[in-house]
Amino acid sequence: MRYGADPQALLDWYDTHARDLPWRVSPRDRAAGERPNPYRVWLSEVMLQQTTVAAVRGYFERFTKLWPTVGDLAAAEDAKVMGEWAGLGYYARARNLLKCARVVVAEHGGRFPETRAGLRALPGIGPYTAAAIAAIAYDQPEVVVDGNVERVMARLHDIRTPLPMAKPELTAAAAALTPRRRPGDYAQAVMDLGATICTPKSPACGVCPWMGACAARMAGTASELPKKTAK
Ligand code: ADE
Repeated sequence: MRYGADPQALLDWYDTHARDLPWRVSPRDRAAGERPNPYRVWLSEVMLQQTTVAAVRGYFERFTKLWPTVGDLAAAEDAKVMGEWAGLGYYARARNLLKCARVVVAEHGGRFPETRAGLRALPGIGPYTAAAIAAIAYDQPEVVVDGNVERVMARLHDIRTPLPMAKPELTAAAAALTPRRRPGDYAQAVMDLGATICTPKSPACGVCPWMGACAARMAGTASELPKKTAK
């Protein structure tokens, strides 16, 4: 096998180092059997599409206080929702958010579809967001690839092909590692690894749970990867 990284080692790291984010279930509640709420997962993923975790946090808290369920959001006034979105930018996201909430209520009885294909058919949900919701909310073994995941895979396998050309190879690497056990936690664990340890600049390789399996660490190329085609 070409890939030496162990998904379980990353899950073990995640169990003690996961970021405390308002759309996640805490380890304690998870141990008690609580599952992520699909409405909250969807709302967070749409907000995070072009916006950082730090910026999204407060908006997410306000939205879920005003509209605790998808039914509440579907019944909201357009102007009120647009007003609360102000500052997050990319306003097509907010219009699609309302459209999506209303389709989920009118056509799916207020329950989000559980498959990637079903989610993909909804307004404002592209391939990445569909995979992320299916994995995180429903523990489907979907391959979730964002910029963080691309960076982690490029380093793990010392892939020096520049982006965007490297995308298929990076996606294949991500697919080969996605476990059938806890794929939702795994997807979030790779995101957290990319955000807190395998950072774009000065990665903290010394505390990385995949340190021993990382080809870029061995080659000394980690901080140069992923390479990008000059614009
Ligand atoms: N970026 C996109 N989705 C995320 C999530 N669920 N957790 C952390 N960062 C993210």
